[in-house]
Amino acid sequence: YWVGMKVAGFTLLAVFLVLVSLEGVASHGVQPLSRISIHKAVVTLDDRAYVKASPPVLGLSGQNAEWLTIELSSPNPSIEDWIGVFSPANFSSSTCLPDNPRTTPPLLCTAPIKYQYANYTSPAYKDTGKGSLRLQLINQRSDFSFALFTGGLLNPKLVAVSNIVAFANPNAPVYPRLAQGKTWNEMTVTWTSGYGINEAEPFVEWGQEGEEKKRSPAGTLTFDRSSMCGVYKDFSVESAPARTVGWRDPGFIHTSFLKELWPNSMYSYKLGHKLSNGTCIWSQVYNFKSSPYPGQNSLQRVVIFGDMGKDEADGSNEYNNFQRGSLNTTREIVRDLKNIDIVFHIGDICYANGYLSQWDQFTSQIEPIAKTVPYMIASGNHERDWPGTGSFYGNLDSGGECGVLAQSMFYVPAENRAKFWYSTDYGMFRFCIADTEHDWREGSEQYRFIEHCLASVDRQKQPWLIFLAHRVLGYSSGSYYVDEGSFAEPMGRESLQKLWQKYKVDIAMYGHVHNYERTCPIYQNVCTDNEKHYYKGTLNGTIHVVAGGGGASLSYFAPIQTLWSIYRDYDYGFVKLTAFDHSNLLFEYKKSRDGGVYDSFRISRDYRDILACTVDSCPSMTLAS
Ligand SMILES: *[C@@H]1O[C@H](CO)[C@@H](O)[C@H](O)[C@H]1NC(C)=O
Ligand SMILES: *[C@@H]1O[C@H](CO)[C@@H](O)[C@H](O)[C@H]1NC(C)=O
Ligand SMILES: *[C@@H]1O[C@H](CO)[C@@H](O)[C@H](O)[C@H]1NC(C)=O
Ligand SMILES: *[C@@H]1O[C@H](CO)[C@@H](O)[C@H](O)[C@H]1NC(C)=O
Ligand SMILES: *[C@@H]1O[C@H](CO)[C@@H](O)[C@H](O)[C@H]1NC(C)=O
Repeated sequence: YWVGMKVAGFTLLAVFLVLVSLEGVASHGVQPLSRISIHKAVVTLDDRAYVKASPPVLGLSGQNAEWLTIELSSPNPSIEDWIGVFSPANFSSSTCLPDNPRTTPPLLCTAPIKYQYANYTSPAYKDTGKGSLRLQLINQRSDFSFALFTGGLLNPKLVAVSNIVAFANPNAPVYPRLAQGKTWNEMTVTWTSGYGINEAEPFVEWGQEGEEKKRSPAGTLTFDRSSMCGVYKDFSVESAPARTVGWRDPGFIHTSFLKELWPNSMYSYKLGHKLSNGTCIWSQVYNFKSSPYPGQNSLQRVVIFGDMGKDEADGSNEYNNFQRGSLNTTREIVRDLKNIDIVFHIGDICYANGYLSQWDQFTSQIEPIAKTVPYMIASGNHERDWPGTGSFYGNLDSGGECGVLAQSMFYVPAENRAKFWYSTDYGMFRFCIADTEHDWREGSEQYRFIEHCLASVDRQKQPWLIFLAHRVLGYSSGSYYVDEGSFAEPMGRESLQKLWQKYKVDIAMYGHVHNYERTCPIYQNVCTDNEKHYYKGTLNGTIHVVAGGGGASLSYFAPIQTLWSIYRDYDYGFVKLTAFDHSNLLFEYKKSRDGGVYDSFRISRDYRDILACTVDSCPSMTLAS
């Protein structure tokens, strides 16, 4: 497979064979909404059945999430009956694409934004035909309706449709997400609304507490169905959900750049849209703390994880416990938020897999975090991969999104947001974020970026050098990497370990494998230090960490113990780094179930320890004196 891949380069066939074998064992990454055969749905409305939703107007106090009650009744109940939540409420066949190649078009062309079995909280439903459900809706720019289907998810028959429910202002600015700008003293705010540039001017009103507020304009992005990848092919496998049943209008995505911030200062901000008649629509007021000056000596705390996904607080969309853990991870990070300065979610963001409604739901879930601290993302297979689109891997994991959602919904300080590699500084940290869904091998554009990022940091000021990427480029005992015999993505270490070693990267962290694992400091498969918890002086290698247990269903370890694997955990969790000063770093692994620390180590050293020459890390010295 190794040789085949190298020789065959990127012919789809080779890549497909590889990925099919990988995904078979690795991924439970089936988007729950994809289990609904919406194109097979038929309309068999029954006057005796009903679905009633209340209250009819949501968010009357300005909130963007609200619980509501569904009452339902069917004359022919079955345990397979389910309720689909549709938004927009009008989900008739008139929304089918005009170029639908089928001779008889399907009756429904959009997937629901969520679903739940009719009996979920009414076990007697199958006998009485009466039931009720509590569902949570978030503001997603459109109205909602609730449809009762019989025939299960595979042969859905529409029996009844509810009244329409809507948020008081469906266009309201929602789900602010902060990200570091291109320089240390710039914070970016990205949010979603239903206001296009011809309806209202988006801006952020902000300032330090107690001082006069200023307004900064925001840019506006959106995209249409034609920006999605994949073909429209009679709902066969190649027909991407993003372009067919999963498509949903993304609304408008705004980003404002708050510049010339003072280091480590508290700011407040609110989102605004100025309508043409002069009225402003406002969000709530939020707060953040600006970034420290690069090299500044102050307490700095970073949280890192991958593969979190999202889940529904009301229990809907449940399939195989797919992303149940994400709620715990979110809860524990929110609980500790006062002690966190910045968060990195290193790929596999929400597993929308082409069902676009899920991105709003994800940004709603992480809102308490992302509105308060920079939420930096990396690109993963579930954001980017699609055959024939230039992704390094030619699988179907993005459901046709081919990176468009990730690079529009979240700001990253990349030169080109479609090429998801970037560097960012946070005080004494330098982070180099790679994009494993694009070529990273020597000679590639990305390889040059990685080397530049690692080489351009002044380690006396920023001693803590961290490399982040989605797929494991270093070391993992995850069963599918072990089955391959490479313990990582083929061509990962081979291409990059000389850079990690030369530039003395302290920690390299990955997701993709849904568990936790930490290695010794290592170079070329050999531990360079046998200590496990307290590293003094030079590391002589890089510590590799898999932190892919953010919330999507867990991945197995292979039943082997390598010399380099120090700690493994088959559970949900995340990593926290605390830099106390230029000489002391604490690494902690916390479980998402209780926020407790289950693995940790410290590094204590001086600048001279970073300069010290070890194997392959210094050029040879001149003999002249
Ligand atoms: C409720 O519906 C689900 C899905 O059809 C089914 O698996 C389950 O057995 C049902 N529960 C009861 C109590 O009928
Ligand atoms: C539903 O939408 C279609 C096209 O978008 C429109 O023709 C139809 O009138 C709408 N129906 C209702 C009840 O709003
Ligand atoms: C401006 O337009 C909005 C939306 O149409 C409306 O709610 C508001 O009352 C208007 N304001 C004024 C001052 O006319
Ligand atoms: C989430 O945390 C609770 C305890 O707070 C635990 O009982 C539950 O099993 C956890 N869920 C998952 C999926 O780990
Ligand atoms: C690191 O490497 C240097 C030079 O090769 C060696 O002298 C030192 O003992 C090593 N440190 C550890 C902890 O192994």
